[in-house]
Amino acid sequence: MYVLLCVLAILSSSFAMDNLRVVFEWKQVDFEYPSSEARQEAINNRDFVPENNLPLGLEVYGDRLFITLPRWKSGVPASLTYINLSDPMDSPKLRPYPNWEAHKLSHTEGSDPPEIVSPFRIRADQCGRLWVLDAGTVDALGDLRFYPAQLLIYDLHNDALLRRYLIPKDQYSTDSLLANIAVEDENCNDSYAYLADLGDPGLIVYSWANQTSWLVKHHYFNIDPMAGNFNIAGLQFSWSDGVFGVALSAPEADGYSTLYFHSLTGVHEFSVSTKILRNATLARNSFKQFKMLGSRGPKGQSGSSFLDKKTGVLFYSLVNLNAIACWKTTNPSYTMESQGRIYMNNITMVFPIDLKVDPNNTLWVLSNRLPVFMYSRLNQSDVNFRVLTSPVADAIRNTSCDSKLVISPEITNRFKLNMQTSTTEAPQTNRNSAQSVVLSLPLLLVAIFARLI
Ligand SMILES: *[C@@H]1O[C@H](CO)[C@@H](O)[C@H](O)[C@H]1NC(C)=O
Ligand SMILES: *[C@@H]1O[C@H](CO)[C@@H](O)[C@H](O)[C@H]1NC(C)=O
Ligand SMILES: *[C@@H]1O[C@H](CO)[C@@H](O)[C@H](O)[C@H]1NC(C)=O
Ligand SMILES: *[C@@H]1O[C@H](CO)[C@@H](O)[C@H](O)[C@H]1NC(C)=O
Ligand SMILES: *[C@@H]1O[C@H](CO)[C@@H](O)[C@H](O)[C@H]1NC(C)=O
Ligand SMILES: *[C@@H]1O[C@H](CO)[C@@H](O)[C@H](O)[C@H]1NC(C)=O
Ligand SMILES: *[C@@H]1O[C@H](CO)[C@@H](O)[C@H](O)[C@H]1NC(C)=O
Ligand SMILES: *[C@@H]1O[C@H](CO)[C@@H](O)[C@H](O)[C@H]1NC(C)=O
Repeated sequence: MYVLLCVLAILSSSFAMDNLRVVFEWKQVDFEYPSSEARQEAINNRDFVPENNLPLGLEVYGDRLFITLPRWKSGVPASLTYINLSDPMDSPKLRPYPNWEAHKLSHTEGSDPPEIVSPFRIRADQCGRLWVLDAGTVDALGDLRFYPAQLLIYDLHNDALLRRYLIPKDQYSTDSLLANIAVEDENCNDSYAYLADLGDPGLIVYSWANQTSWLVKHHYFNIDPMAGNFNIAGLQFSWSDGVFGVALSAPEADGYSTLYFHSLTGVHEFSVSTKILRNATLARNSFKQFKMLGSRGPKGQSGSSFLDKKTGVLFYSLVNLNAIACWKTTNPSYTMESQGRIYMNNITMVFPIDLKVDPNNTLWVLSNRLPVFMYSRLNQSDVNFRVLTSPVADAIRNTSCDSKLVISPEITNRFKLNMQTSTTEAPQTNRNSAQSVVLSLPLLLVAIFARLI
C-alpha cells in the first residue's frame, strides 16, 4: 500500500508535459522609434541604454501583447510597451504604450514625472480596461528617485486614459513596492483592484465605483524567514519579499471571488474571500477568515500566479526550480503531491517572472533571468528574455490539474478501497498495485529527477 501511495503521489504531481513553446525571444530588447536618427539620438544621450532594459510584466489583449520594463536602471525609454501579435517576427521591437509622450522622463531635478513612471505589473480586464500599477520608483538599483505610486486605467478601445488614482500616502511607505495587481471585474461598474505591496507587506483594495482605496494588513502577507534563500542560474542570494502572487477565482456561490495569495519569500499558499477584503471594517476584524491552504514544499517559492476562471486552475511560477506549476482549486488538498508540473527548463525558464491566461484560453509566460540582471551580467550574445505559450488544455494535459486525466481517479478509488481494507488486503488489490508500479516507473524516474534539481 505504501508503494501505491507513492505512485498516486507521483502520478498526480511531477509529470511535466513541457507543452509550452517559445513564441518571442530577445537577446536585448529594442524599441520602435519614429526614425533611426531618433533612436541613435536616444542612445547617444543615454535615454536608451539597451542592456538596462528588462521585461518584467506581461498581459495579452486582442492582438496586442503588453510588456512592462520598470525603471530599475537608467536608460529605459518606455516602461509600458506592446508588440503586435500579428507581427511575424521572433524578436519584435517594443512600441511605447499609449505613446512616447507618456514616458518622457525629464533629467531636470524636481520636474514633473511623466504620465507613466515605472509599472511592474498590469492587468487587462474583461471590460476592455488596462489597469497599470505604477510603483513610481526610478533607478531602484542606482540613484533612487520617488514619485507617487499610482493606478492608471486606460480604455483599450481607444487607449485613452480613463483614470489616474494616486495611492494615498498613508497606505504605503518608503519600504513599499507595489509589484502586482489582480482585478475583480465581474461587474464593470463595481470593479475592485487588489494591489500587493511586497516591500511593506499589505494589500491595498481599490474600488472603481467609489474611487477610494484602503489598506488591509494580515500576518499571512509577511515573509516566511525560513524561505529566504534562493539558488538560481548558479547565483545564491536571499530575498525578503512579502505578498506577491495574487489571483482571483470566478465568483463563488455568494457572489464574491476568492483571492489566492502568497509571499515570494515563502512556500505556503493562502486564500481569503473578497467579501472580507471589500469592506475595510470587516477586513480589520476578520483575522480568521484568512486561510492557509498548504505548502508547495522545499524550493517551492513562487512569484506570479494567475487563476484561469474557466478551468479553475491556478497557474504559478516556481522561481527556484525554473518551472511553472498548477493546482486545481477544486482539489481539497494543497500539497506537493496535488500540484501539477507544467514546464521546467534551466535555459528557457530561468526566472519565470509573469504569467497570464488570455480570453482565448491561452497561457502566456514571460521568463527574464532576473537574478543574472541584478547580481551578475546578462550575456548579450545569448537569448535572455522569452515569451512562451500554450493552450491551457495542452499545458495541463496529464497533470493533476487535468480533469480529463483518467488514471488518477481510478487509482484514487483503489487507494480508498485499500484504506478501508488495509488490514486484510486481497490478492486482487496486490496485483493491481504491482501493475501500477510497472506502468509508472518512467514517471517515477521523471519525478525523482525533477525533485533533485
Ligand atoms: C482571440 O480570438 C479572437 C477571435 O478569434 C481574436 O480576434 C483575438 O485576436 C484573439 N486574441 C489572441 C490574444 O489571440
Ligand atoms: C497589428 O497588425 C495587424 C496586421 O498588420 C493590423 O491590422 C493591426 O491594426 C495591428 N494592431 C495594432 C494594435 O497595431
Ligand atoms: C454601468 O454604467 C453604465 C454607464 O454609467 C451604464 O450604462 C450601465 O447600464 C451600467 N451597468 C450596470 C450593470 O450597472
Ligand atoms: C461607497 O461609499 C459609500 C459611502 O461611503 C458606501 O455607502 C458604499 O457602500 C460604497 N460603495 C462601494 C461599492 O464601496
Ligand atoms: C462592513 O462590515 C461592517 C461590519 O460587519 C458592517 O457593519 C458594514 O455595514 C459593512 N459595510 C458595508 C458597506 O457593507
Ligand atoms: C541544466 O540541467 C542539465 C541537466 O540537469 C545540466 O546538465 C546542465 O548543466 C544545466 N544547465 C545549466 C545552465 O544550469
Ligand atoms: C554567451 O552566449 C553565447 C551564445 O549562447 C555563448 O556562445 C557564449 O559562450 C556565452 N558567453 C559566456 C561568457 O557565457
Ligand atoms: C497522457 O497519459 C496517457 C496515459 O498514460 C498517455 O496514453 C497519453 O499519451 C498521454 N498524453 C500525452 C499528451 O502525453
